[in-house]
Amino acid sequence: MRVLITGGAGFIGGHLVDALLEAGHTPLVVDNFSSGDTDNLPSHVEVFDVDIRNRQELAQVFRDSHPDAISHHAAQLSVSRSVREPAYDAEVNILGWLNVLELAAQQGIQRVLFASSGGTYYGNIHTPATEDLPPKPASPYGFTKLTGEYYLEFFTRQYPGLTGVSLRYSNVYGPRQSSEGEAGVIAIFASRMLQAQKITINGDGSALRDFVYVTDVARANLLALEQPLPHRYRAFNIGTGQGTTINELAASLQAYAQEERNRRQKKSAIPEPEHGPPRAGDLEANLIDATRIHQELDWSPEIDIQTGLKQTTEWFAERIFS
Ligand SMILES: NC(=O)c1ccc[n+]([C@@H]2O[C@H](COP(=O)([O-])OP(=O)(O)OC[C@H]3O[C@@H](n4cnc5c(N)ncnc54)[C@H](O)[C@@H]3O)[C@@H](O)[C@H]2O)c1
Repeated sequence: MRVLITGGAGFIGGHLVDALLEAGHTPLVVDNFSSGDTDNLPSHVEVFDVDIRNRQELAQVFRDSHPDAISHHAAQLSVSRSVREPAYDAEVNILGWLNVLELAAQQGIQRVLFASSGGTYYGNIHTPATEDLPPKPASPYGFTKLTGEYYLEFFTRQYPGLTGVSLRYSNVYGPRQSSEGEAGVIAIFASRMLQAQKITINGDGSALRDFVYVTDVARANLLALEQPLPHRYRAFNIGTGQGTTINELAASLQAYAQEERNRRQKKSAIPEPEHGPPRAGDLEANLIDATRIHQELDWSPEIDIQTGLKQTTEWFAERIFS
């Protein structure tokens, strides 16, 4: 299967490229490299350096690449930028997405996946959220993810050949995540701790998050592309249902980072985390129930949080110390 991955040079997109190659498919990447990087991709993968907002250039990508399916990951994903620049956020996340959808429909593409966000879809929730809960997005970024789902469902009703799947990820983490932005708390903490720099936890650190490992997310995409679907449109949660507090996360990462430093005879100890004021709009708790995708596509997470944190710390250590 030829799968066009928008945002394929990004963190999740790059892992999806790997999963597709391993399963014998042909990944094709469209990305404007605003946060993506060619380092995330094997050199032989076909890459189109195009912005999804550019309808003409994107149409040419569709004509040249002949995809059978789309996995849409390109997005503006900073919540704070979405608050500061809601029009820009909507240009990428809504108008760019509509370009992808219209071209997919025109070309008779049969399956389209949409990277949605459980964190922003369900808002503050202390017990694992199931897909039938009402949406409660609280930021322009969240509105675009919800709107994106609505559009995908609409297109599957409008174009009989098209099946659509929204994958509502919880907090995705793992190797290659950017430690620059605001979202990848694990990437930020791991890279700072490995360099014996102090980290600041926003608030008291009791906030509860559901962290899902990136290769598990890539495998969910693969299943949603390959498996027959009984529904024309379906939303699936992708998470573990297990909560980890930010304090627990920091303690585990500190232990793994210290191990990596000790192995390399780095003398100084990692400073204890400090606590800053809570960040406006941060959720107290967000957990995701993935029973539906387990029952319908036989997906469940394979990498538990401690294994994932250790592997991620090792990956950052290799990069920082080599
Ligand atoms: N990382 C998470 O925890 C998480 C959680 C829920 C949902 N998501 C969603 O998953 C998707 C991928 O996220 P990620 O963490 O891999 O982020 P990322 O920033 O690594 O990947 C996004 C990719 O999209 C590209 N891109 C951005 N704007 C573009 C444009 N206008 N045209 C073409 N390409 C463009 C970027 O260059 C980048 O390669 C996003 O849609 C995001 O909203 C991520």
